[in-house]
Amino acid sequence: MMKPFKAGITGTGSILPEKKLTNSQLESIVETSDEWIVKRTGIRERHILEDDVPLAKIAAEASVKAIEDAGLNPVDIELIIASTCTPDYLTPSLACTVQGEIGAKNAAAFDVNAACTGFVYALQTGRQFIENGTCKNILIVSAEALSRATDFTDRKTCVLFGDGAGAVILSKVDDGTGVEEACLGAVGDNADVLTLPCLYASDADIEKRNEGKKQVLWMDGSEVFTFASRIMSEATKNVLDSAGNEMGQIKYIFPHQANMRILQNAAKRLDVSMDKIYSNLEYTGNISSASIPVCLDEASKKGLLKKGDKIIMVAFGGGLTYGSALLTWSK
Ligand code: COA
Repeated sequence: MMKPFKAGITGTGSILPEKKLTNSQLESIVETSDEWIVKRTGIRERHILEDDVPLAKIAAEASVKAIEDAGLNPVDIELIIASTCTPDYLTPSLACTVQGEIGAKNAAAFDVNAACTGFVYALQTGRQFIENGTCKNILIVSAEALSRATDFTDRKTCVLFGDGAGAVILSKVDDGTGVEEACLGAVGDNADVLTLPCLYASDADIEKRNEGKKQVLWMDGSEVFTFASRIMSEATKNVLDSAGNEMGQIKYIFPHQANMRILQNAAKRLDVSMDKIYSNLEYTGNISSASIPVCLDEASKKGLLKKGDKIIMVAFGGGLTYGSALLTWSK
């Protein structure tokens, strides 16, 4: 039976910092080449937050845009869920800082961290508050400053990541649109293939890193690549099956933007054309949990999404985590 109301995306907003880091600039930082980076990842440039700008600033700016896009005021927001694995502070949470910055004084606020899958985890969490009648309007904001957690002497990781923020408003909708299904998962016994220590680091994690660089991201790229190539198609199929939909009904897939070859592998396994797979990683790099909401905002502003279109969002990330969601566009 169809639910009387659902949680629909009614507004989007995003910010990519102005400063850019191009492949040719990276050539003067580590032993790499534009040719290698483009061929092995599809990335040409990424946006980098200036040193004196807190992540919360772009998170708040993206949030204000999403609230305006939904035709709401900050005081209409009842809950803020922020996803990040690169917060300015552990406390206050990013969500609380955004709440204060934008004047969303009626909102409760907390963070989730599921690394690059953070937006899908936040969406599935927020959806529950709408569906059980607790809230009518929720702000989900995913913001990341990966450049601050990058070892710029490690060519295996420093060419991949960038910074950015994306936000959506999740509102109670009763027109049949909204989130239909979402699937989340984790593989904690593979946790050590992608790590970013905070207040403690194991001896093994200190050993892996270049000397003196404890709080930087370390990754076994090929392990993550193998996991990602498999899980992106599996998680997409899972959510499609649970919603009882066929791939032909889906207008776009919005995958986490990590590597063009991962997207191509997923497209091949799913037997879909790359035209159906939205991508912006050429000029963003991997911006972790911000990548899907930034893509959604771009696609919405470009007029690629119309009310009633079915889309799938699918992500994987540190943890390891993965998740997918299928929704009908509400705007
Ligand atoms: N420039 C030039 N050469 C590089 C390089 C760079 N930036 N980075 C690695 N290389 C070299 C390696 O040192 C290696 O050289 P060697 O054979 O002499 O040892 C060679 O390229 C191949 O390395 P490999 O790690 O096998 O490359 P790859 O094709 O697997 O690509 C990644 C590496 C990191 C791009 C790829 O594994 C990847 O994208 N993994 C998934 C990462 C991801 O999605 N992370 C985010 C999770 S949310």
